[in-house]
Amino acid sequence: MVSPEHSQFQTSSSLSMSKHGARTKAASFLSDGLLFVGGALVALLTVWALSSFVNPNPSSGFSVNEAKASISSEKRDCAGGAHGVNLRDDPGDPTFYDDPELSYSIGGQEIENWDEKRRDWLKHHPSYAAGAGDRILVVSGSQSSPCKNPIGDHLLLRFFKNKVDYCRIHGYDIFYNNVLLHPKMHTYWAKIPLVRAAMVAHPEAEWIWWVDSDAAFTDMDFKLPLERYKHHNLVVHGWTRMIYEEKSWVSINAGVFLIRNCQWSLDFMEVWASMGPQTPNYEKWGQTLRSALPDKLFPESDDQSGLVYLLLKEREKWGDKIYVEGEYYFEGYWLEIIGTLGNITDKYVGIEKEVQRLRRRRAEVVSENYAAMREPYLKDAGYGRWSWRRPFITHFTGCQPCSGKHNQMYEGETCWDAMQRALNFADNQVLRNYGFMHPDLLDSSFVSPLPFDFPAE
Ligand SMILES: *[C@@H]1O[C@H](CO)[C@@H](O)[C@H](O)[C@H]1NC(C)=O
Repeated sequence: MVSPEHSQFQTSSSLSMSKHGARTKAASFLSDGLLFVGGALVALLTVWALSSFVNPNPSSGFSVNEAKASISSEKRDCAGGAHGVNLRDDPGDPTFYDDPELSYSIGGQEIENWDEKRRDWLKHHPSYAAGAGDRILVVSGSQSSPCKNPIGDHLLLRFFKNKVDYCRIHGYDIFYNNVLLHPKMHTYWAKIPLVRAAMVAHPEAEWIWWVDSDAAFTDMDFKLPLERYKHHNLVVHGWTRMIYEEKSWVSINAGVFLIRNCQWSLDFMEVWASMGPQTPNYEKWGQTLRSALPDKLFPESDDQSGLVYLLLKEREKWGDKIYVEGEYYFEGYWLEIIGTLGNITDKYVGIEKEVQRLRRRRAEVVSENYAAMREPYLKDAGYGRWSWRRPFITHFTGCQPCSGKHNQMYEGETCWDAMQRALNFADNQVLRNYGFMHPDLLDSSFVSPLPFDFPAE
């Protein structure tokens, strides 16, 4: 591994920083709010008109009145909201937001009783309470200036599109940020203040899911097994033996993690962040981490080593709430994955040749149902390495798409080809519902229409 460069938002694991334009959902909602509600009303009236036109006889099956009733009550409650929540449900009662001492920042006033504050907020916003237990906000980010690599911003756009696709298919919100929220917490430290701010901004979300900008969802169907994590507050990919026996700084990967929006996590992040460049002890932490983790070569204190260190040294305090996931590609090393995509594609096509209902055309919005239907045919596929299941997340550790300063271990071309291949592999799963596919994973600009009943012979 090369020593981390101090660009923004780099991850220590990937030693990659990315950058790219942000998407400020909140802002666009604010400015477009009125327009949006107006549009929803027009859409509703259109649906009414259409439904009475198409089905004038209420006795034939599904009745128009039923349809009207269900559509109108839903629309009335939702005010145009997605996923059945009411985007205008804000009664104005005092909440934790009215406390002038509340700080969004790491190192600012610490938040106390957060679990109670969140619960209280949900009580005042009942339309968010249902489903709050497993609501996920995906958070990612990259630097605020253009990439040095001439194709860096393009790659980041494609990585971002990939995340948006995954979130849309599963009904998750996403926040992409491209500014340092703490000016001194650069590179791989930048995500901690961001995740903390996201927790405060999203009391309706139970989980914040950090996904590095250089990581791509390569199984659009797979969902996090949240049930497995119900007694845990932090989930990272890693190998227990490498943590506790080898004390290796790469025994986990801090580039993708799932963290519960709760007091434990706020406390944990304060401790974790205390090894960062914003503290007077930063240099000393670098030495401490290097002496604790024999394979760590670069002198700077990094977030990933810090996390391994806390697992090693403060296991009693934090360890029982940290789930080290090693059973599937919670994130996977691209070099291990990229050569398997061809065979995996063949396997999935083989299944669809056999099973007519799996190759039916369908609306994108019911994707999860088809994923569940496919699952029995994947029962022998396994998970993770040596499996022929689509890898869930492929992480381009060491490729540095934005800076272009990839690890000298790899040729630049190898990284770029692999990224194209993985992104198009994922995009094929998305485009399928739009009637197209990339026949050649290395040709991003060409798609062919999918014949009806593809891939039957
Ligand atoms: C792909 O499958 C073929 C045929 O089963 C096998 O020989 C080959 O080793 C596989 N390739 C990879 C990378 O797994």
